[in-house]
This record gives sequence, C-alpha cells and structure tokens, in this order.
Amino acid sequence: MKHKYSQEFRTLISSGDSLHDLLTNSSFSGTFEAWEQRKAFIANAIDKSGTFLDIGSGNGFLLRCLQEWADYDITPYGIDINEEYIRKAKELFPNQADNFAAVNIREISRIGEYLPDVYDFVYFSADWSQTEPNETDARLIKSLEQLVASGGRLIIGFYGDDVAVNQQNVNALVSAGARLDQTLYNPEGTNLVTVTGVE
Ligand SMILES: C[S@@+](CC[C@H](N)C(=O)[O-])C[C@H]1O[C@@H](n2cnc3c(N)ncnc32)[C@H](O)[C@@H]1O
Repeated sequence: MKHKYSQEFRTLISSGDSLHDLLTNSSFSGTFEAWEQRKAFIANAIDKSGTFLDIGSGNGFLLRCLQEWADYDITPYGIDINEEYIRKAKELFPNQADNFAAVNIREISRIGEYLPDVYDFVYFSADWSQTEPNETDARLIKSLEQLVASGGRLIIGFYGDDVAVNQQNVNALVSAGARLDQTLYNPEGTNLVTVTGVE
C-alpha cells in the first residue's frame, strides 16, 4: 500500500473477504495494489472539497478510496443501474445512504427525482475498448456538463489497456463534439482521465 490510509479505512480493507467483495462489486478483479495503481491518480483531478457524483458507482468503493487519496473532503454520491451494488454502497456509507440511487445513465436527465441535480465533480468512465465512441457518446458527455456546478469539473475515465487507444478515443469524442479540456495520464498505468472545467 503506497498511500497513508486512515485507521477506519485500514479496518475496512483488513479482512481478505471484505476486501475481495469491495473490489469485485466495483467490477475489479485484481489486487488492492493493482486497484490503487489504476485508480489513485484520479484524485489528481480533485482540486477542492465538494460533492462528487460517480456515474456507475458500483458499491461506492472508488468514492471511498477517493476520500483517502484526495487532498480534499469529498461528499460521495453515486448512481448505478445495478440495485444490488447500490444496496452495498448504502451499506458502505450508512450516514450518506440517501446519496445513492439505482438510476440508469440513460435516464440521467431525471436524476433530480432521486438525488441533487448539480455536483462539484461528476465522474463517468465507459468501456470504449471495443468500439470507438461516436456522436451519441459525445452528446451524453456534453449533457453531463449540466450536472456540474459552476466552478466544478467533469471527469471522464478512459480505462482501456492501451494508452494510444485511450488517446484515440479522447480525440474521437472531441471530433464528435464533446468538450474534453485537459488529459491526466496515469503515471502507473495505461488509463487516463479528461478533466473539463465548467464555468
Ligand atoms: C467498471 S464499473 C465502474 C466503477 C467505478 N465507477 C470506477 O470507475 O471504478 C462500471 C459500473 O457501471 C454500471 N453501469 C453499467 N451500465 C450502466 C448504466 N446504463 N447506467 C448506470 N450504471 C451502469 C455497472 O453496474 C458498474 O457498476
């Protein structure tokens, strides 16, 4: 473990079984060290304290880790299509259970019926490893900007195993009309995130 974790977090991941559950219910099949290597750099996109919506949050473990990795306080929010993941996210954040809802990203325009409709940070990662993103994806990303508060950031994750393909997918989205301002590369992996400031 490279990071200096809180005692509460160390306790959370101290049992092998619970750590395994936390990772698999975040759709991750590797070790905690591999998870850390792949995801910790996302915290570099967080430049202030605030609310953070993870679209496709799984069980919320990424949010819980970002609370450890970031230099700022994060109030976690998440949506996921999988109700079981959302149940687990509510368990992980018992004091903020109402911050998680089973919502399909296709219905993101109705998020206000379940959760706030504006956040300081909105994070979304899609799997574009098989097909290059198109105009529909670009429109979706553009629409996510509306969920970002003034002065906030839209963060898009590109998780492919080839950094050149990830970069190509960023370019394809920009050509298709998405606004993706800045790219943060993972110094320890192939994945990257784009960060777009919203005024
Ligand atoms: C790879 S996991 C991402 C977990 C976490 N956000 C991260 O980046 O580490 C993708 C998540 O998206 C969820 N998902 C897939 N399709 C979705 C949809 N249409 N609407 C909302 N969530 C969806 C899956 O259930 C899964 O939990």
